[in-house]
Amino acid sequence: MTCPFQRVLAPSGRPDPYPLYAELRATPVARQDDGTYVVSTYQEIVSLLHDPRVSSRRRDLDRTPAFIGLDPPEHDRLRRLAMRHFGPPRSPGRIDALRPQMQAVTTGLVDALAGRNRADLVEEVAYPLPVAMICRLLGVPAEDEGRFHAWADELIETLGPGEEDRAEREQARREVTGRFDRYLGDLVDARRHDPGDDMLSGMIADGEMTRDEIVRTGVLLLIAGHETTINLIANGMLTFLRNPGVLARVQADPGLIVPAVEELLRFEPPVQLISSRVALEDLTVGGVTIPAGSPITLALAAGSRDPAHVPDPDRFSLDRPRNEHLGFGGGVHYCFGAPLARLEAQIVLTELVGRLRGPRLVDDPPPYRPSPILRGPRHLVVDYDDVT
Ligand code: HEM
Repeated sequence: MTCPFQRVLAPSGRPDPYPLYAELRATPVARQDDGTYVVSTYQEIVSLLHDPRVSSRRRDLDRTPAFIGLDPPEHDRLRRLAMRHFGPPRSPGRIDALRPQMQAVTTGLVDALAGRNRADLVEEVAYPLPVAMICRLLGVPAEDEGRFHAWADELIETLGPGEEDRAEREQARREVTGRFDRYLGDLVDARRHDPGDDMLSGMIADGEMTRDEIVRTGVLLLIAGHETTINLIANGMLTFLRNPGVLARVQADPGLIVPAVEELLRFEPPVQLISSRVALEDLTVGGVTIPAGSPITLALAAGSRDPAHVPDPDRFSLDRPRNEHLGFGGGVHYCFGAPLARLEAQIVLTELVGRLRGPRLVDDPPPYRPSPILRGPRHLVVDYDDVT
């Protein structure tokens, strides 16, 4: 029998990787044949997320990476300069100001489901809302939104993990990031002459980042804003429809959407794995010494269901008093977009739960997108009686 992590990566693992993660946790730090160390238990993942001897630095690029691929202090400087125009976590800022637009776009998307009895909630709701919002934040014109769908999909396919087809994936990644870079580069030049009330214009006006740094940051946010929240929303409806008791409670008490979204980030996390870390020195974790230079994969989705950390981890519960999950990572790279993602998911799921009458899944499991890293349904087709 192949090792559980290889089965997580295989397409057959996509619909339900959780029993495989449970097997994986029996060896908290597991060396793969290609020399990668896969870490799958909560405490060990947290310790590595906070360990400065574990690097996120991308050394394989022909250019300086965006801040997700940098270590402190370069990372911290660029993240801080971008955060200035985004609104720090838990403070009102650009994100809160977007709330009325977010609600209006969502209402429009759900209105469009009326007059028929079947919809694909991925294509029609979960994808368009996050895209519209990240484009508005950055200052990407609405008429360009459609251009990124295929680009973003292609990029996700190049993420790996695994060493076998690395050269081929790198080539594909260079081509598609080139397209994003050229698009954002032209937009930065346009905003320099004709500024707006958006993040790109703000970063340009500060005068503290080079043109390249602004372009890289813009591309990072555009991609992160595309490929993650879509899965949170789709996984959310899927989980509600599989658990009618949960759906009924959220319908009866819309305030429960807040713990529901938190539990989704634990139970069906859109980012399952972080596969981009490298040990800078020999380091010992969970009794295993990871040699300097080894690639490390952090199985966030396995850690968030670790029974040593969460009681009854395979049950979706709205009543967890403290929900400490790894859905947004941790340490210096903790998700930059977390307040935006949470708000989008809360608004969309509230609207869907409140307005779709008699929703039911057409395919269970639904078809999944190929990536084991950013995991989510490709389509989520539901039948319903009516839209109120
Ligand atoms: C980082 C998850 C939405 C922007 C991360 C990381 C995770 C994550 C796990 C850590 C990556 C690492 O340590 O290497 C998610 C999930 C989302 C989401 C589950 C939706 C449900 C967003 C959105 C944005 C965003 C909407 C854009 C506004 C970023 C950025 C980083 C990041 C820029 C890198 C932060 C850094 O390196 O300091 N995200 N994310 N994310 N996320 Fe998100």
